[in-house]
Amino acid sequence: MIPQSTIDRIIDAANIVDVVSDYVKLRRTGASYKGLCPFHDDKTPSFSVSPARGVCKCFSCGKGGNAVHFMMEVEQVPYVEALRLLAKKYGIPVEEEKMTDEQRQRMDERESMFAINEWASKYFSQTMQNNPDGRAIGLAYFRSRGFRDDIIAKFKLGFCLDSPNAMSDEAKKKGYQEKYLVNTGLCGKRDNGSIYDRFRGRAIFPWLNVSGKVVAFGGRVLDARTKGVNQKYVNSPDSLIYHKANELYGIFQAKKQIAKEDLVYMVEGYTDVLAMHQCGIENVVANSGTALNEAQIRLLHRFTNNITLLYDGDEAGIHAATRSTDMLLAEGMNVRILLLPDGDDPDSFSRKHNAEEFKAYVDAHQTDFILFKTNLLMKDSQRDPIKFAKMTEDILKSIAVIPDEIIRSTYVHECAEILNRDEALLLRNANKNRIAILENLKKEAQREREREERLSKLSEAERVQEEEQEATGNIETTPAVEPIEPINQTPSPIISTPLQLKEESSERFIGLERMMMTLITRYGEKDIQGVDAEGNDTHISLVEFVHNDLLFDGIKLRSPLYTKMLSQTIQHVHDEGFIASKFLLNNQDVEISREAADLVEDRYQLSKTYQMTQSEEDMSVPYLERLLLDYKNAIVEEELKKCNADLTRPEVKNNAEKMMETLRRINELSGVRRNLAKLLGDRVMVK
Ligand code: CTP
Ligand code: MN
Repeated sequence: MIPQSTIDRIIDAANIVDVVSDYVKLRRTGASYKGLCPFHDDKTPSFSVSPARGVCKCFSCGKGGNAVHFMMEVEQVPYVEALRLLAKKYGIPVEEEKMTDEQRQRMDERESMFAINEWASKYFSQTMQNNPDGRAIGLAYFRSRGFRDDIIAKFKLGFCLDSPNAMSDEAKKKGYQEKYLVNTGLCGKRDNGSIYDRFRGRAIFPWLNVSGKVVAFGGRVLDARTKGVNQKYVNSPDSLIYHKANELYGIFQAKKQIAKEDLVYMVEGYTDVLAMHQCGIENVVANSGTALNEAQIRLLHRFTNNITLLYDGDEAGIHAATRSTDMLLAEGMNVRILLLPDGDDPDSFSRKHNAEEFKAYVDAHQTDFILFKTNLLMKDSQRDPIKFAKMTEDILKSIAVIPDEIIRSTYVHECAEILNRDEALLLRNANKNRIAILENLKKEAQREREREERLSKLSEAERVQEEEQEATGNIETTPAVEPIEPINQTPSPIISTPLQLKEESSERFIGLERMMMTLITRYGEKDIQGVDAEGNDTHISLVEFVHNDLLFDGIKLRSPLYTKMLSQTIQHVHDEGFIASKFLLNNQDVEISREAADLVEDRYQLSKTYQMTQSEEDMSVPYLERLLLDYKNAIVEEELKKCNADLTRPEVKNNAEKMMETLRRINELSGVRRNLAKLLGDRVMVK
């Protein structure tokens, strides 16, 4: 962790105009600057930078934030890494907060492994470029497959000489320890304890993780030697710095383009990635022929919502493409599929076509996954009613995992058309599936909480060990879906309504909380004059005013993020020179600082909600008073709705005592609502 004082220094030093200018040509327009947005294909300047507030924002795609958020987005790095980049730019030394001995040791171990991998990667590529055998065998191999030099350089391709210890001897001469040669998997160990170069005689594909560090290698035998060699590719084993199941080949070279095009292509192999880059399609990663797992999907989801699976069009390709799609859908990704003709993979296809043809084919043949699957299964089972019912179930299960309700119902609509079935019937079944899934998720969350609790009781070393076991053990997981009733049964009532209702009403609360938090972020330290219970004049900060008011009525905010922001602001409001906006914007917790950047933006101009004649700051207290009343009113209304619904429930209807109690409560709440309405009426804003 970087100490807060250093974070403050970095953010204070980082001039937003200066930082953005490294990536975007800016033009001054009045108090702010404008340019083309670096985060999407911007035709006219939508990207605005406000030096006064220290934030930037694209008014078209919505991306932006303070200097750190900008760096996170544009460099696609995590928070701490973005802070480091800025620190470097402004020459601010970053000293890490003290780590425990255990942490320090692990850190050293990781650093040493990264260092040796970095060295080995350079060594392999230099060998291929400069060593006579390297050129004649390694470089000749890549060239014979048609790969251009810029692609070879971009992917740091190399060659490992065909000798048992050429690489490891050189490494030791350079001072690298044998221990790390073995830990990283660069070398294997024989029974007699001696080591050998794992990748000898192979063409080398380094694996870069998302931040560009070399975490592993893949080594391919050369064509001439394919016969009699049982393994075409040898890969680094899993290690402290590499979990094969969680990495994606090519992510580092692809991430900017993935974010920019808001789309990622998923292919099977190393050479497919290379071939696509060579054709000018750079938003592509490979998962080396295995099914995707959750960690990989999350990694991709940081950059985009849209994934196109690209496989050869034969049976095996189709099978590969339909694996792990439910997991992608459940993550909320939009999944499309693209099959290449004649059993070609992207690499072989690209050799038969030029870049334009390749691109045109890709653009023309991507199809939506659900519709693809529906059509495919439809063809398979047209004349077999049992098969047909089963496959309908199967499709509805895939649809049911999609989190977005509108997308779900759109799919149901389209599938009903393709399958020529009653839409309402399909929808009911999809909803039933959905509920089973939500229940499973709840159970899973419970298990996860229990697991966290268990882990929190272990020591650092035990915890790490357990997590590592989990990471390597759990390669392919699919979301558990309980079996559902077959499709052609009598319809049951749709039970998804209560779920919707809850989401709707919480929207309203979050909206009000967002406005409260906007005022707190902008004016939280503002001094408010008031009278205390004894009638004496007192002073209190705006944030404490809100806090006390909520506390008085026993109200807790619903948004966990706003709860966190409020409590942190309260804790620090009496710090020397406290300014809420700065405190929240510079927060160590990136979730908080991001939200704060959003809230200081003009987008949430309160003047649009409440007509005003005075400045926003002058009006902040009356706004707040009104907001708090609105908020309480919303709570009362929700409670009333619940009570009224209770009246129709049999347990209440048929129980005189419960009935009376509910009616009493309704009566009481109605009274509160009348009072609130009166207060709200008194406080109508000046128009
Ligand atoms: N793979 C692997 N180990 C193997 C075989 C395959 O790790 N023994 C992974 C590699 O990442 C490979 C991917 O699975 O890139 C796809 O395998 P395949 O299609 O056989 O290889 P290609 O990438 O097509 O390689 P080439 O064109 O050189 O044959
Ligand atoms: Mn291939």
